[in-house]
Amino acid sequence: MGRRRKIEEVDGFLKLTIKVKHQVSGDEKDFIQTLNHSLSPQDLKFTIEDDLFCAYLAAFDPDSFRDILEDARRKTGITKVYEREGLSDPVSSLLEEILSIGSYGIRYGKRIYIGYADERKVSDRKEKESTRGIHYYTRDHQFSHDRNPIPKGRENTIVCGDSEDVLRSFPDNCIDLIVTSPPYNFGMEYDQTDDGVDWNAYLDKLFRVFTEGIRVLTYGGRFIVNVQPLFSDYIPLHHLISSFFMQQKMIWKGEILWEKNNYNCKYTSWGSWKSPSSPYLKYTWEFIEVFCKGDLKKTGRKEDIDITDEEFKSWVVAKWSIGPERRMKQYDHPAMFPEELVERCMKLFSYKGDIVLDPFSGAGTTATVATRLGRRYIGIDVSEEYCATARERIAKERKSGIQSNLI
Ligand SMILES: C[S@@+](CC[C@H](N)C(=O)[O-])C[C@H]1O[C@@H](n2cnc3c(N)ncnc32)[C@H](O)[C@@H]1O
Repeated sequence: MGRRRKIEEVDGFLKLTIKVKHQVSGDEKDFIQTLNHSLSPQDLKFTIEDDLFCAYLAAFDPDSFRDILEDARRKTGITKVYEREGLSDPVSSLLEEILSIGSYGIRYGKRIYIGYADERKVSDRKEKESTRGIHYYTRDHQFSHDRNPIPKGRENTIVCGDSEDVLRSFPDNCIDLIVTSPPYNFGMEYDQTDDGVDWNAYLDKLFRVFTEGIRVLTYGGRFIVNVQPLFSDYIPLHHLISSFFMQQKMIWKGEILWEKNNYNCKYTSWGSWKSPSSPYLKYTWEFIEVFCKGDLKKTGRKEDIDITDEEFKSWVVAKWSIGPERRMKQYDHPAMFPEELVERCMKLFSYKGDIVLDPFSGAGTTATVATRLGRRYIGIDVSEEYCATARERIAKERKSGIQSNLI
């Protein structure tokens, strides 16, 4: 049928649109008229506008709608017409689309899609926001709008070194996006670093690297930190990190809950078994904290956006169910994040061609995904061994990209 779907708000309705390739027939117009006849126009109505089938949606009861639809089909014989012409029914596609979007509530048995703002308990919301001050903690920041080039020879490289030192040689405002998972001080067996030091020393070092990261980010650039707190030490690392970024006048854009569904941790170590004395709380998820420098908006060219409608709709819901990375043995790294997690961050928060940095690059997951998605990358890690793994992975990714382009 060659459809393109679109949703927008028009005159107090959600307008869902499907473009059809075939010539709209009189039978179809009769069918839409018959269908509308049985619907309450203030809740739902259908129109044909040139080659567009549109649904204007405010409220909807799926069960009674299905009955009405069947009735209209029977009365007009439209199903036979579509079968004869080898076409699929655009109203079925619109119904699928309606069912896939979330309503915000139910009233008198109907799902409600519009009027949320009117129902809100808070009036004059904008005015109150301005009195309170949104992201008030970033007031009087001194971030510059200038943009500088990255140092010569650093584009698309994996650099072996301490990221605090390496980044010192970078100018301010030259990186679009940072995606990283730092060491968590859990006592992991990393190749070069001691991952189990005094918490103050750990945090001092981490925050010095973050300070450099913030400095090299461009205005509107995003800093994304994947973090798993060490619950057994009762250190809310995700909160400490967020407070640090806010003190640096970075906007806390939000927190994504990365549900790993790793059930292992659900069934071991109970603390005080079956007693309120000191039960353990268990977590099958990690956190992804997202910060913006200077502005929530990041400018870029429309043609450099590569996220699809479906990806956008699904990923802005800030709970991502992604299994943990399963190839850590293969890459000989103990704490990798999965490529899918990085792909979502990159498509949701950056444009093609952007420069992406990972200051704790490990086996090079960020750089590998950046290569696949047409971003430029810089990865930094203290371990020569991990850097070598990262370079190999990227070379493979590049090769498979070239091959798939040749096919
Ligand atoms: C959690 S791992 C990151 C793994 C990576 N996300 C991946 O998918 O492979 C943290 C990494 O930080 C590196 N590291 C620790 N301290 C560092 C520092 N000061 N500068 C650069 N890298 C460091 C470690 O060698 C380790 O590979």
